[in-house]
Amino acid sequence: MEPTIRQLYSAKQIQDRVAELGAEISQDYQDIERPVAIGVMKGALCFFADLVRHIQSKKTLQIEFVRLASYGSATESSGAIQTPYLELPNILHRDIIVVEDIVDSGRTARFFMDYLKDQFQPASLKLAAFLDKPSRRIMPVKPDYVGFTVDDLFVVGYGLDYGERYRELPYLGELSGVNVQ
Ligand code: IMP
Ligand code: MG
Repeated sequence: MEPTIRQLYSAKQIQDRVAELGAEISQDYQDIERPVAIGVMKGALCFFADLVRHIQSKKTLQIEFVRLASYGSATESSGAIQTPYLELPNILHRDIIVVEDIVDSGRTARFFMDYLKDQFQPASLKLAAFLDKPSRRIMPVKPDYVGFTVDDLFVVGYGLDYGERYRELPYLGELSGVNVQ
């Protein structure tokens, strides 16, 4: 069986929703001096780049990124968080917004939010996730901003991959015809 992708959200639907989220975040942060937006690579690649262009902040944002991975099979995370790139400047006591592709089991987000709290005691710490898959949650995580809530499907595109493929698709689709658990 050939892998097939069924479109769930078009590039246009995604762009519209990201613009709405950006407006909401701009509103919430209007009195905050210089928020730090941290993109979690690689999955947040597209969402992060689009979202920050819709955030208006008094003295502009500070943009940072980290790379986290939860190795396992292509569709099932192992639970162990790898930190291939976790370099951050001194952002002690700052207002931090973490930008993630998807909150699935919640392990990655839980790990990183706890890490930031521990390392930098942020003045505020929020999570923006392009997608939320609450049905799969293992660790308690509730994103503050969510693009779309999805069912228990394996999705690709707009930064999300299956074995390092499909990240470049401008739309989001459900992948089938592969060994998705
Ligand atoms: P966690 O289980 O919440 O820790 O999510 C770990 C990572 O698994 C996410 O950051 C994604 O990169 C990846 N992931 C989870 N669900 C999907 C999916 O449906 N498609 C592609 N990647 C996913
Ligand atoms: Mg992945």
